[in-house]
Amino acid sequence: MHTIQVKNKTFIPYLSEKEIQETVNRIGKEINTDYKNLQPLFIVILNGAFMFAADLFKTINIDAEISFIKLISYKGTRSTGNVITAIGLDELIKNKHIIIVEDIIDTGNTLHTFLPQLIDQQPASLKIASLLYKPEATIYPIKPDYIGFTIPNKFVLGYGLDYDGLARNLSAIYQLQE
Ligand code: XMP
Ligand code: MG
Repeated sequence: MHTIQVKNKTFIPYLSEKEIQETVNRIGKEINTDYKNLQPLFIVILNGAFMFAADLFKTINIDAEISFIKLISYKGTRSTGNVITAIGLDELIKNKHIIIVEDIIDTGNTLHTFLPQLIDQQPASLKIASLLYKPEATIYPIKPDYIGFTIPNKFVLGYGLDYDGLARNLSAIYQLQE
């Protein structure tokens, strides 16, 4: 792995494809155990979580459903603070065991705004699986139940995460060089 250039910024290798895959497998195992006979519904937050969600879902060997929702709160490398629901949830979630799948919990604003909308619909239970967690950046009290990697407060991209729409296709995760 080597340094990459995206637009005007330089990013350094941070988490390898192998490390990511091992971590995704570990989370999958935990979910398979915790949700045996509960038939969870995975709700994936687009766009960033699509790659994590696809890899994670393949490790699931219990009955499970998956659905997608699009929320936008990010422009460039800074959270805008405004969460907009771009694609709504058409699934009924009442009495279902929900697992929110996120790429990263940064300020926590996105889920802090969105979770009450889900709770209103009375799911049987609600947990969060996030590949990345930046506790130093978290303003709202959101802590994922399943965490892939706890990372410092630096911008990252790759494996679904973008910088202005680019670099989502990378299999590894890179960190902004400061
Ligand atoms: P909040 O602040 O609401 O952030 O927890 C949630 C969404 O913001 C995006 N995000 C990032 N995207 N590199 C990215 O490519 C980052 O370091 C980063 N931090 C936050 C992401 O979509 C997340 O779901
Ligand atoms: Mg996201």
